[in-house]
Amino acid sequence: MKQLTFSNKDTMAAIGLGTWKSDPGDVYDAVVEAIKVGYRHIDCAAIYGNEAEIGEALNKVFSDGTVKREELWITSKLWNSAHMPEDVQPALKKTLTDLQLEYLDLYLMHWPVVLKPGTVYPESGEDFLSLEEAPIIETWRAMEALKDQGAVRHIGVSNFSVKKLKDLKGQANHQPEMNQVEMHPLLQQPDLMDYCQSENIHLTAYSPLGSNDRPERLKKEDDVNLLEEPTINQIADKHGCTAAQVLISWGVNRGTAIIPKSVNPKRIKQNLDSAEVSLSGDDMQQIAELDKHRRYIDGALWCQDGNSYTMANLWDE
Ligand code: A2P
Repeated sequence: MKQLTFSNKDTMAAIGLGTWKSDPGDVYDAVVEAIKVGYRHIDCAAIYGNEAEIGEALNKVFSDGTVKREELWITSKLWNSAHMPEDVQPALKKTLTDLQLEYLDLYLMHWPVVLKPGTVYPESGEDFLSLEEAPIIETWRAMEALKDQGAVRHIGVSNFSVKKLKDLKGQANHQPEMNQVEMHPLLQQPDLMDYCQSENIHLTAYSPLGSNDRPERLKKEDDVNLLEEPTINQIADKHGCTAAQVLISWGVNRGTAIIPKSVNPKRIKQNLDSAEVSLSGDDMQQIAELDKHRRYIDGALWCQDGNSYTMANLWDE
């Protein structure tokens, strides 16, 4: 399995198990199965509402000897309503308690968007704080303190543009080491990738299979089903693999981490086996031509009447 190496030489397996949309009731078996078949990287977040059940699964695989804690890479994310500096440590504590862990390998700021403390999802523009009222750097300072304490080994961000990364890097004491963003052949983000490579920021690709199980409110009529994309399927036929495996192999080939979500044992294994699929330069070139800069997760939820967030200032494009 290809690994991403951090500046302190820690390594993270390129293919991880995504857990967004993995319901309590399913996620325990999914995580136990994934670790049993060889996953060593699990991607979590407080807002997914399933960290307590993932914690049960981790407890099981540690106690039955399947893996040791140090063999796993566990990521989680700070939710938008916990950006006030005094809320950051309690948010991490809750995540660690739920996951039954002493430390995280990686803690990410989930969005460059702030919700008032106590809000889970916004119902109106009133539920937000602007980035002037709750600056990213102040939240980041509290995350830096978690790293200094050893409660998290690495810190990073998610859904950040080049502009926001530059702003943060200019002020940070500990540099962001990861940016987790939506990334797949319809949203390849070459400029973001070039910038991150030049600044030693790793990328993790979320929604790499197009997240067909995303909530209805995140669907648009003209959305394309990535798993049915003709070029991807032609390449899959040529290699005798599935479309999902081509999408995952593509992400690994570009040097990013990638976190396909599945709660189905066959697909969990199939996704990990994508590491064996070897795409040619010609395959990569054909896929490069599919880019449409098309987001499935466009952040529209954060842009409501009466707040300061717009699609333009969220993505800086
Ligand atoms: P399931 O959990 O039933 O396997 P993403 O990772 O982009 O969020 O996509 C997740 C969606 O893709 C889920 O609906 C998941 O369903 C499905 N999925 C995961 N792996 C595969 C696969 N190998 N083939 C087809 N669909 C898959």
